[in-house]
Amino acid sequence: MDNGASPKPVHIFPADFAWGVASSAHQVEGGNFNNQWALWEQQGRIKSGDRVGLACDWWRHAEQDFDRAQELGINALRLSLEWSKIEPEEGRWDGGALGRYREMLQALHQRGIRPFVTLHHFTNPLWFEGKGGFAAPESVELFRRFTHQVMASLGDLCSDWTTFNEPNVYVALGYFLGEFPPGRRGRVLQAAMVTRNLCLAHAAAYRTIHSLQSNANVGWAQHFVVFKPRRPDSAIDRWLCGFVDRRFNENFADSILSGRAPFPLNKFGQSLAEVKDTCDYVGINYYSRLRAGIELRSPRTLFFQLTVPPHKPQGDSGIEIPYGEAYPKGLRSAARRFAAFNKPIYILENGVPDREDRIRPWLLGSAMKQMRKLLKEGIDLRGYFHWSLTDNFEWNEGWHLRFGLIELDPSTQMRRPRPSAEVYARIIRESRNGASHGAAT
Ligand code: BGC
Repeated sequence: MDNGASPKPVHIFPADFAWGVASSAHQVEGGNFNNQWALWEQQGRIKSGDRVGLACDWWRHAEQDFDRAQELGINALRLSLEWSKIEPEEGRWDGGALGRYREMLQALHQRGIRPFVTLHHFTNPLWFEGKGGFAAPESVELFRRFTHQVMASLGDLCSDWTTFNEPNVYVALGYFLGEFPPGRRGRVLQAAMVTRNLCLAHAAAYRTIHSLQSNANVGWAQHFVVFKPRRPDSAIDRWLCGFVDRRFNENFADSILSGRAPFPLNKFGQSLAEVKDTCDYVGINYYSRLRAGIELRSPRTLFFQLTVPPHKPQGDSGIEIPYGEAYPKGLRSAARRFAAFNKPIYILENGVPDREDRIRPWLLGSAMKQMRKLLKEGIDLRGYFHWSLTDNFEWNEGWHLRFGLIELDPSTQMRRPRPSAEVYARIIRESRNGASHGAAT
């Protein structure tokens, strides 16, 4: 019976839960002309024809956006380091670039924001790409050396590290679908070799970081997609869906969990025992659900097609392909899938392309519901990072897809908060006050 007293606050989210936003160097900094994405852009491969330009101008003014993040109540921010700025030529370290990253990390601490630093978020220096990128065996040692330099220069300012962002996306889009540089299609064996080298480079970085920082928290960010068969009554679509699900969602993760070599190298007796268990947490980037089906008229996408039924909630579509169904329940499928690691879980990215902010407020509220369920089920969830604070340069879609809590006009650098910014701020406030629902329901 209601006795008029206000309900007792229920603290579901741990007090040190990381309420964050995520970003990556090439997408926000500006001034990156020396990596393979700058070349890809010069070659006219950005579908919108856009230029990254100043991006969000973080190289000069990140602090202004850090202020905005602080105003929203955010206590963690994920950013990446641009290798091509730090090591512009092989073996030459740029003290100015490292100095700027020091300033940025200090600025976050001054605002009570915990930095989560990603070492590799899709971009490679041109000199490294010229050697074959991660297809080349020496990539492992070159990445280890880069990590060592980063630790020596910035290690006192950060203890939460993400080695690689989405190795499965890097490989699938770069070596199967040709959507990302180096633009290869259907290269099954090369893709497996690249995955293998990424696993080895990750393990080398994991050990390097731990050798220099005893309290380091090191993991990687795994992209996860919920796949459903396009025609559930078709045996071939069901088979394809299961195949794509295992190959995409478990690529990389499975090697870290079990020490098995990536498919199909494992079928030839190869193993990767040295990478087993090289993580302190599992980072999950989750956005959408897609239907997978065979489509013989689609050689460009290797005879399968990814679609979204029209009646499902969706953000804005990509220029050539749909971005995916906005399906917040998938957060739980993702977290459960990686529960076998028995490690803390961080949602390192979640969001939706939605210029008009039609469904983002709903998505944020639904994501919170799913996280509360996970915590109640005993999943060790430690943080949530929304992608992204402001609109930024969305890879081969350019400025076409807008993910920001804050709208950005790249030509003037003017910013305007979308309603979602306040929704997220309220969710964070309520979680701290112990409210069990509220904005999020
Ligand atoms: C990537 C981000 C990207 C985001 C939105 C993730 O796959 O890590 O760089 O901007 O998705 O598409």
